[in-house]
Amino acid sequence: MTEGSEVRSRTGGREIRRIVYSADAIAEQVGRMGREITEYYPEGEEILVIGLLKGSFIFVGDLVRQIARPVQVDFLVAGSYGSGNRSSGEVQLLYDPGAELRDRHVVLVEDIVDSGTTLNRLVPLLRGRSPQSLELCALLHKHLAFELALEPRWVGFDAPSEFLIGYGLDQSENFRNLPFIASL
Ligand code: IMP
Ligand code: MG
Repeated sequence: MTEGSEVRSRTGGREIRRIVYSADAIAEQVGRMGREITEYYPEGEEILVIGLLKGSFIFVGDLVRQIARPVQVDFLVAGSYGSGNRSSGEVQLLYDPGAELRDRHVVLVEDIVDSGTTLNRLVPLLRGRSPQSLELCALLHKHLAFELALEPRWVGFDAPSEFLIGYGLDQSENFRNLPFIASL
């Protein structure tokens, strides 16, 4: 799976620097997080998993299959807008879930917490919709954010401060289909 020619056929010939987390290592952490999420909520409670697109699409698919509770799934698309090609750092919701959050146990799922800008804007917005509880699950945490509106309760890996691709993470929309996480 991760042999050189197989990797190059997925990257269009571009070399990746190194594999940071193998598919097996990811599966192990996703399994652990699924078990921890299961144990955190009392039996019989329903969980609403909200994935932040696009980066979390593979992670959410794997994670929800490891949660042994009734689960519903929705997604949010957040985008930062600016004038011209400058980002203002302002986060807008491009797709907003139809799901009602009021009185529900919500687990927000992020691919990677980097600067925390996205989360710090989203969390107050979601809290304003009065969920019974709001927790965060992040596959990767770079621990660079000065202050987070919500610390992730479940983290897959404490990630190095390198640019990572694969398993949903992109560089200019490429490499999301790599089954492992790599550094470019
Ligand atoms: P933040 O707002 O800086 O915490 O990061 C927001 C988003 O940027 C994340 O959800 C990712 O989609 C993307 N991102 C941050 N770091 C990386 C990276 O190393 N590789 C790919 N995408 C990243
Ligand atoms: Mg991205």
